[in-house]
Amino acid sequence: MSAIESVMQEHRVFPPPESFAKSAAISGMDAYRALCEEAERDYEGFWARHAREQLVWAKPFTKVLNESNAPFYKWFEDGQLNASYNCLERNLENGNADKVAIVFEADDGTVTRVTYRELHARVCQLANGLKALGIGKGDRVVIYMPMSIEGVCAMQACARIGATHSVVFGGFSAKSLQERLVDVGAVALLTADEQMRGGKALPLKAIADEALALGGCEAVKHVVVYRRTGGKVNWVEGRDRWLDEVCAGQPETCEAEPVDAEHPLFVLYTSGSTGKPKGVQHSTGGYLLWALMTMKWTFDIKPDDLYWCTADIGWVTGHTYIAYGPLAAGATQLMFEGIPTYPNAGRFWDMIARHKVSVFYTAPTAIRSLIKAAEADQAVHPKQYDLSSLRLLGTVGEPINPEAWMWYHENIGRGRCPIVDTFWQTETGGHMITPLPGATPLVPGSCTLPLPGIMAAVVDETGQDVPNGSGGILVVKRPWPAMIRTIWGDPERFRKSYFPAELGGKLYLAGDGAVRDKETGYFTIMGRIDDVLNVSGHRMGTMEIESALVANPIVAEAAVVGRPDDTTGEAICAFVVLKRARPNDEEAVQIANELRNWVAKEIGPIAKPKDIRFGDNLPKTRSGKIMRRLLRSLAKNEEITQDTSTLENPAILEQLRQAK
Ligand code: WTA
Repeated sequence: MSAIESVMQEHRVFPPPESFAKSAAISGMDAYRALCEEAERDYEGFWARHAREQLVWAKPFTKVLNESNAPFYKWFEDGQLNASYNCLERNLENGNADKVAIVFEADDGTVTRVTYRELHARVCQLANGLKALGIGKGDRVVIYMPMSIEGVCAMQACARIGATHSVVFGGFSAKSLQERLVDVGAVALLTADEQMRGGKALPLKAIADEALALGGCEAVKHVVVYRRTGGKVNWVEGRDRWLDEVCAGQPETCEAEPVDAEHPLFVLYTSGSTGKPKGVQHSTGGYLLWALMTMKWTFDIKPDDLYWCTADIGWVTGHTYIAYGPLAAGATQLMFEGIPTYPNAGRFWDMIARHKVSVFYTAPTAIRSLIKAAEADQAVHPKQYDLSSLRLLGTVGEPINPEAWMWYHENIGRGRCPIVDTFWQTETGGHMITPLPGATPLVPGSCTLPLPGIMAAVVDETGQDVPNGSGGILVVKRPWPAMIRTIWGDPERFRKSYFPAELGGKLYLAGDGAVRDKETGYFTIMGRIDDVLNVSGHRMGTMEIESALVANPIVAEAAVVGRPDDTTGEAICAFVVLKRARPNDEEAVQIANELRNWVAKEIGPIAKPKDIRFGDNLPKTRSGKIMRRLLRSLAKNEEITQDTSTLENPAILEQLRQAK
């Protein structure tokens, strides 16, 4: 790990525009430093102050942080609150009732708006409907829905009645959905007939039916279906209900159930370095606190903003920065059902111009693909659109390369808008290391400095700090309120994955490599140190994809590595040994396609390997361990200069190289 060296030499610096800094929530570096010092001086006092100021508590807390059972930390544990109350009633009481909460643009361009009053009524009706089905506090509900106001209502309705939701991204396969339903022990599944993306209807209900038919989901008593397209669906009497019928006739108010601050608001599955996805469990109080604080600090959200986060509600970004943070902040947000390239690659820019978006938050992979599209077709180049409403830009999900940053800054922000490159994870609940738009001088490619109260550091493999300028392992030294509480049903895996004994058992291990600048202390993230790939900002464990490949009856063995890709950041490259003879060129193309479709069915289309190479074997040590670093070089078409003396079968390298 100490071999990780800083490769980026970036000297361009962009201080915040004066006018921006003047009105920002955190204005200038002195204000930032003052908050950091407050947190250093009195850590618990700092968090308690914010928790009291920012959230509405049904029962105030007296205890702040409980470390007695570390790393199973508890925050505000004797306090009670309701997350949905903090997102909805709060806005009915503070003058936002008739403010638009969500502007929804459908795939086909149809626009719908809901005010906070209407959203509250809809959430309450659904909450009452779920209660009428017998769903309540402590139950788990899986949500497999498209980007929709109904999807947000589903999450909020669960929070309102104290049920823990687990949202599964609509691009996941029946198999992935079934695994999550079983693991989380869901009693109900909320889905839609179909979802619309890029003009195509995708059958969510049919996939949900298939998932339930795979077995193990006997606890799922109810399937509630949002009628999105009116497409044909199969129906299981007694189990299936239309969402509008569940809501019909229900009262438009529903008392928000106070829950303990530590009550699990949601479980969200994410990839780790072993095969099985991890159910990341989040709390109610600490999580919501940070969702709201970071809306104010990082996005500097203002009453007149039109805020747009392009993430899907199936990912953590769609949880914190669509379903909870913006609502708790009383913001007006744009929500989009479709994809950035339909009807053409100018869709995002057109939407920004039409809706007058002021804060725009997206993924580097989207930026990179839209750069390509704009270069290929001037008609969809951002210069054709009026983007003057923008005041702040953000990125999330993967490192943004300085060239893409500069393009974003010049072509979208027109040199005027700060960019917040927000580093965080499903496990962290919200932003961790990010510029503050009215304070931090920006350096392209760097996520700059930790937010106040976040004790991020770079250490070596024994947990010792490394000097600035040397690469190492990114850790967080103290627990923070929004952190993961455990892995659902697997506390031991939680401890081992995030608080490994090798680092002393007290440091939160993010799983990324990082380096801090010698002079400024700015952080640059250097990518994953474990076997997790980041494809288009989506985390995927190599083991997960390998297990899926090996589950195919013709596959004997498979190893998956990542290689750099201009658009998706990393691309999946699979080395496969079949149970039969190695296929010839023509067959190889055909079998590779079959295997790609197989992985799409097993996990979802996002996990399809870009490259598949067939060999008689894989490069292994004498003890049988696959030498992945050699596969990484092969995937990149690099000369192999590394030591291969421990390799059992050196000839295999040449074969795999030619298999390209
Ligand atoms: C990566 C997404 C560099 C990182 C919110 C992390 C980033 C993983 C950035 C988490 C960034 C996220 N710069 N890398 N600004 N943001 N990452 O759980 O590898 O889907 O560990 O959460 O994405 O991905 P996850």
